[in-house]
Formats: sequence, C-alpha cells, structure tokens
Amino acid sequence: MTSDFTEAEKRGFYKAIYSRRDVRSHFTSKPIEDDILSKILHAAHHAPSVGFSQPWNFILIKNIETKKKIKESFDKEKSRSSQLIEDPKKSKYLSFKLEGILESPVNLCVTYDPTKFGPFVIGRSSIPEAGLYSVCCAIQNLWLSARTEGIGLGWVSILSNQILKESLELPDHVIPVAYLCLGYVDDFAEKPDLESAGWLPRLDLKDVVYFEKWNDKENKNWKSIQNMIKENMDYA
Ligand SMILES: Cc1cc2nc3c(=O)[nH]c(=O)nc-3n(C[C@H](O)[C@H](O)[C@H](O)COP(=O)(O)O)c2cc1C
Repeated sequence: MTSDFTEAEKRGFYKAIYSRRDVRSHFTSKPIEDDILSKILHAAHHAPSVGFSQPWNFILIKNIETKKKIKESFDKEKSRSSQLIEDPKKSKYLSFKLEGILESPVNLCVTYDPTKFGPFVIGRSSIPEAGLYSVCCAIQNLWLSARTEGIGLGWVSILSNQILKESLELPDHVIPVAYLCLGYVDDFAEKPDLESAGWLPRLDLKDVVYFEKWNDKENKNWKSIQNMIKENMDYA
C-alpha cells in the first residue's frame, strides 16, 4: 500500500469529515444494499483498538417489534430528561426530533465486550476505559464510511441501556455503547441541527486548543499556528 494520498483522495477524506451529520430525518425508502452495509461494517471493524482487542460487536436490527420497544424507551427517557430543565428550554428540547428509529431501515447496536481475549489487554490495565474508547473509534469509522456511501446515521443515546440489554438479549458483561439508525437520506444538512436551531454554537477552535499546559492559549513558542487557528480557516 502506498503511503501517500493523492490530492483527490485527501479532498474525499476531508469531505467525509466535514459533511458528516447526525441524521434523524430525511430518510428515504431506498433500502441499504447488503454489499454497502457490509462495506460500512468492514470500515468499522478496521478501527484502532487498545491492545488490538477489537472489543466491539455489531448487532443489526430490522425487526419492527424490537424497534418499537426501543422507540418506547426513547419516548420515556426523553420525557424524563425534559424534567431536568425549565421552560422555554424544555419546550424547545421537546420539540427537537432526536431519533429516527422507525423511519430508518437499519438500526445497529454497537457493544463493548471487556472479556474478549481474556483479562489482560495491552494498554488497558492503567486506563480501563481504553476499551470503551476503542469502540467509539469503530463507531466514528462507521459514521464516516456511511457518509461516504450517502447513508445517514443518527446516534440515539436517549434510551434505557437496561431495556436495550433485555431487548437484544445481551449477556450481563456486554455493554451497549451506541444505538444507531441508518438509512439513505435525501439531504445532509450543512450544519448540525442543534446549531441551526440555536441550541448551542460551534466553539471556535482557538478556544479549545491549549499549548503546553491547561488554558495556555498564547504560548509564545507556538505563535504561527495560533494565528492559523484564530483565523478559523475553513478546510471543508
Ligand atoms: C455519544 C453521542 C450521543 C448522541 N446522542 C444523540 C441522541 O440521543 N439524539 C440525537 O438526536 N443526537 C444525538 N447525538 C448527535 C449529536 O447531537 C450531534 O453529533 C451533534 O449535535 C453535532 O452534530 P453533527 O453530528 O451533525 O455534526 C449524539 C452524538 C454522540 C457523539
């Protein structure tokens, strides 16, 4: 395999990153072809993982009864979480569409199995969460691959993991990490829905990058990149 990306390949890579969206609506009726779904799963399975432990499993779901159970859990949890905030924020939150469980042709639960390859995993003994981080890397691969194939993906975390575990018959030691809704869409929004709705803004990069230590944004040994970061250059 050659080490360099051509300019066109680089553009494609950044296009996937900048045009990826969390999608909860605009699903079309076109089914996802098995070869494309398989391609996306392969991309996920090629993510990095601590000690090469590959601690993920992918459960593909299209059974409507299972989907309905998960949707019910979403409705309950959304209503429960809305009690944590007051109006007008509460009504705004309740008005958001935050899942596409029934409309999307394929739901996918990505799980974490900490027992895979036995208790000793290189790199996980000091930071046990590294196993979970690995699963998140797989999910990001999956998300970008789906975007590249024109498939929208929405992550639903407003649900009860207990209901998920029961519905999918997960063993006790297996942790559900993500419940994802996938399908072809007729639109990928330019900005995150929550940004367009004025819920939260995208932070400036200059406010999240520090130099050498926490909160140092002006370190003089890093001047030239500071200027570039401040310009909010658009690589999209
Ligand atoms: C761990 C995680 C959980 C999320 N849970 C939900 C969710 O329950 N419902 C939802 O509508 N979006 C959910 N999202 C999507 C985020 O709201 C979305 O990524 C964010 O607003 C930025 O938008 P973008 O993904 O389109 O760039 C989740 C994203 C992540 C990474």
